[in-house]
Order: sequence, then C-alpha cells, then structure tokens
Amino acid sequence: MKDNTNLADYQKITDQQQTTWATGDFNEIARQNVGMAEALCQAADPHPGQRVLDVACGSGNLALVAARRYCQVAGIDYVPGLIERAQWRAAADGLEVDFRVADAQALPYPDASFDVVLSVYGVQFAPDQEKAASELLRVCRPGGKIGLAGPIPEGWSGDFFATHGRYAPPPPGVKPPLRWGTDEGLNELLGDGVRAIESKQLVSLQYYRSVGHALDVFCSYFGPTMRVLQKVDAETRQRFLGELKAVFGRYNQAANGAAIVENHYLQAVATRA
Ligand SMILES: C[S@@+](CC[C@H](N)C(=O)[O-])C[C@H]1O[C@@H](n2cnc3c(N)ncnc32)[C@H](O)[C@@H]1O
Repeated sequence: MKDNTNLADYQKITDQQQTTWATGDFNEIARQNVGMAEALCQAADPHPGQRVLDVACGSGNLALVAARRYCQVAGIDYVPGLIERAQWRAAADGLEVDFRVADAQALPYPDASFDVVLSVYGVQFAPDQEKAASELLRVCRPGGKIGLAGPIPEGWSGDFFATHGRYAPPPPGVKPPLRWGTDEGLNELLGDGVRAIESKQLVSLQYYRSVGHALDVFCSYFGPTMRVLQKVDAETRQRFLGELKAVFGRYNQAANGAAIVENHYLQAVATRA
C-alpha cells in the first residue's frame, strides 16, 4: 500500500512556503537575477520557435529573455501577484508568454510539452525535490534541454541561506535547496533521466547603493527575510539583522560606499535522455 504520510507533509510545507514567497514583493529582488537568466538562456540556447518553460518564474525574468528570442514561452509560479507582474512586464514589452499560477511539483502540462525547461533560483525551493525533478523531466521532450541556475553551499548564497536557517530552521525531513547546487545532488535528482549534465560555477553581481541599502531591500521585499523578522523577538531581530548585514559586507567588492555583492552560483544544462 502506498504511504501518503510524506505527501501530506509536503503539501503543508508547500502551502507555508507559498505564503512566505507571497510576502513582500520578489519583483524588487528579481532585478539581481536578470544576468543569471540571460546566461542560462544563452547556455541552454533555445532556438526561435522552440517551446520553453520557465519554472518558478517569479515576475518572469527568464521567460521574457526567451520570448525575445521568438521562442514559444510559458512560465509558472505559485504566487499569483508575481504572475500578474510577469504578465504586465510581457505586455509592456509586446511579448507573448503564457504565464500561469502553478506548483513546480505538479506542472500543468502534458508529457514532453517543451524543448527547453529552465529555472533560475526557483525549482530548487520545492520541498519534494524528487517530485519537482521528475516534473522537469516529464515535461521535457527526449533530446530537449533542462537548464538550472541556483545557489551553492559556498559564498554569498550559502552564507545567506545558512543565516536564515539559524533563525527559521527548515522543516524536518526536507532536504536543503543547496542540494541542487552540487554535482552529487544534481546527479541524484536528474541522473537517470538525462544523458549528460554540464555544470559550472559562475559569478553574478548584485548592485545596491550601499550594504545598508542591500539590507533594506531584503527587509522590505524579500519574503523569507520578512518572515524571519515577523517571527522573532526584538533582540533576536537585531542579531539577525547584524548577521545579515555582515553577510552582504563579506561579499561586497565595491570600495566606494556602494555595494557590489559577488554571488557564486551553479549553472547546469542537461540533455533529456
Ligand atoms: C528566488 S525567486 C526566483 C524567481 C525567478 N526565477 C527569478 O529568477 O527572478 C523564487 C521563486 O520560486 C517560486 N517558487 C518556490 N517554490 C515554488 C513551487 N513549489 N512552485 C512554484 N513556484 C515556486 C517563488 O514564488 C518565487 O517566485
């Protein structure tokens, strides 16, 4: 008999995470991801007319990059406000993208619907990683490409997520998003479904007026940071803010008061078997 215990837990965790991502406005943070979206699209190289899916698209960064290539593009995210923003952005640029509200763990498409399936700092957050990986594989046609850009355990990403984890520990039994940022994790998740995985670490730069400004941006708009701030008492809040500011400071490359934060991340492109 099938054991549904984990399924129920995953649904509860997914609902809680959806509330977190719907807090604030990720579109304000998404400007820092444009370079990663451009780089991933270039690496996966969808051709004009090909069908491309942006999984956990937020306000649509990568979907819009692919649409500029005259691809047939769809994007899903489970935060309705971000999908609405993505639709505005596409309309403002005169681009056609089929944006829908959906869960990365249950993609609303038939098997083999896409030539290229991509995600930037998105699918990695789904709690049921095996299900999310199987959905990427399912909707990608044989010979198609699956491309991911995501956080790694080292550098700004690892430091940033570890700092949040100390104040809002992840639910028990859920593997960390950083698993997708290692070759071992990628092989476990996509292994049998792909012919090859080419991965490399790249650097993306985040630009802010100052380290204080970076902190303000995340405290004002980034759901996971805002949720920690809502949950902890005043003293803990100050400690968390101090640690977060130190994280931005550690990876700041600017020497003139501005903050140019160096983020090492993993870009991987796999060919569907
Ligand atoms: C860090 S943001 C990245 C957004 C976008 N890919 C970008 O680069 O701008 C993470 C996004 O993943 C979405 N997300 C997380 N888990 C998801 C899930 N299970 N299904 C759909 N979207 C999800 C969040 O709503 C959020 O928009």
